Amino acid sequence: MRSGGAGVLLLALIAAAAVVANAAVTYDHRAVVINGRRRILMSGSIHYPRSTPEMWPDLIQKAKDGGLDVVQTYVFWNGHEPARGQYHFADRYDLVRFVKLAGQAGLFVHLRIGPYVCAEWNFGGFPVWLKYVPGISFRTDNGPFKAEMQRFVEKIVSMMKSEGLFEWQGGPIILAQVENEYGPMESAMGAGAKPYASWAANMAVATGAGVPWVMCKQDDAPDPVINTCNGFYCDYFSPNSNGKPTMWTEAWTGWFTAFGGPVPHRPVEDMAFAVARFVQKGGSFVNYYMYHGGTNFDRTAGGPFIATSYDYDAPIDEYGLIRQPKWGHLRDLHKAIKQAEPALVSGDPTVQRIGNYEKAYVFKSSAGACAAFLSNYHTSAAARVVYNGRRYDLPAWSISILPDCKTAVFNTATVKEPSAPAKMNPAGGLAWQSYSEDTNALDSSAFTKDGLVEQLSMTWDKSDYLWYTTYVNIDSSEQFLKSGQWPQLTINSAGHSVQVFVNGQSFGVAYGGYNNPKLTYSKPVKMWQGSNKISILSSAMGLPNQGTHYEAWNVGVLGPVTLSGLNQGKRDLSNQKWTYQIGLKGESLGVNSVSGSSSVEWRWTWAAWGRARSG
Ligand code: GAL
Repeated sequence: MRSGGAGVLLLALIAAAAVVANAAVTYDHRAVVINGRRRILMSGSIHYPRSTPEMWPDLIQKAKDGGLDVVQTYVFWNGHEPARGQYHFADRYDLVRFVKLAGQAGLFVHLRIGPYVCAEWNFGGFPVWLKYVPGISFRTDNGPFKAEMQRFVEKIVSMMKSEGLFEWQGGPIILAQVENEYGPMESAMGAGAKPYASWAANMAVATGAGVPWVMCKQDDAPDPVINTCNGFYCDYFSPNSNGKPTMWTEAWTGWFTAFGGPVPHRPVEDMAFAVARFVQKGGSFVNYYMYHGGTNFDRTAGGPFIATSYDYDAPIDEYGLIRQPKWGHLRDLHKAIKQAEPALVSGDPTVQRIGNYEKAYVFKSSAGACAAFLSNYHTSAAARVVYNGRRYDLPAWSISILPDCKTAVFNTATVKEPSAPAKMNPAGGLAWQSYSEDTNALDSSAFTKDGLVEQLSMTWDKSDYLWYTTYVNIDSSEQFLKSGQWPQLTINSAGHSVQVFVNGQSFGVAYGGYNNPKLTYSKPVKMWQGSNKISILSSAMGLPNQGTHYEAWNVGVLGPVTLSGLNQGKRDLSNQKWTYQIGLKGESLGVNSVSGSSSVEWRWTWAAWGRARSG
């Protein structure tokens, strides 16, 4: 009995060891290999802090129903470590919960740790305290930067490991990413760039995550890290080694919106065409960026001037509703690709010319599976082609998928899903009241300095707002007091917007834009004899999320600030005493919260009154 029992136990151990050896993610030239099986993987970006935890199960289920295999997300460093060493992984930042939910729904996860993420996210995901680490230089071969980056990447990997979330542990994470689109920056970053990129790759692999790492847009990604493509089309792309699969980490489903900018739209016919083009040429991993864009809550939008909505024209809209026909047409595309998968994973296609603009890409397995993609690259003319003795009609700019090399089950330009625009109902019965912030009532936290200060170095981004206040004495001899030709106040700011008040009266606003955050305000302002108070409310409208040398970026009124049209001509106010106050009174009272809102006096406006009565 005893020895028989030991034998059974030994067999069980051997079986378990075999499962563990198999339960791994690797890759080869053709595809990512999961548990020994090459896979054609369809993936979609859903960024967990851009929706609420209550929405996550439904978003993930809709991704699965849409035919996805993988959910991809960035990890948002500044959300997780708002102050150095103080971590936050709750609520919208509950990364573990999000990954587990994806796993429970039967989806894999691609974790893009970055920790630089771009993503139209405030400061590209960097915590603002990082800018004030002594001697730091961002995203280059710099000791202080690399130490902080490594600390965070290792923190995330060990957290995922201790929760058992990597695929080899039985969890859903099959892929990771370090850095983000660093390749195109290398020439601008100088000598430190290449050593940094290869350090990042090696550091990531050394974390022992045990899944393949990718670096997107990194042509020189060192083995074993896979370089991948981002773009509207990626069929021109091949990885830097024949032993790596062809992967598309960002297939842009639309685009983001900036304040004052257009709301972009990408037709699903073109999206499906781009994906089919990629797959027919041997691509085996496609991630939709975004599959659900969501919302830039709080002050998370990058910029400056990235909009609060991050809808992105994605297959699931900002509110979590499926966007038709985009979602449904892509689901049908995924079904067709899945049907073709046994032939697709077996090797590279052979290409046959079947017309001037038409080609057949054919995949065959040794077991007899056959799949063909018939493409028409003409932008406006449909074509009738013959393939394998059968006739097929191909609309312009389209691809038909034949999972058995005979029946066209899907054409990228033939949308069968009816369009169903989301219905918006005006919210009725709401009463609106307003609260007005005082114009610069300084409190005990205000402080005075000689000259103008850079805004971020004062606020550390705890608030978007910094009040700049100074006083100007006007002599009775000033001509303008009689002529009424008011002096001209000129304010130069590094960005992103200013509201100007003199003696409590508003004299307008000025703001920069997404492409150029700098601004100049220049207007006549009414002044009186004696002491005049100039108050400038400077606002940061989302810190830029891309570019070089983050350590050198500035916000706020850096000057010069001048007053012209005085008897003496122009007076430079830049170097005189200025008093500073961080944030607004409404912020410190928390008027956005229930308790805070009861601490101020709310006022009805006539318009609000009218709406409330009629609503
Ligand atoms: C990519 C970047 C993403 C996002 C996208 C535009 O270049 O990797 O993070 O910023 O552009 O939405």
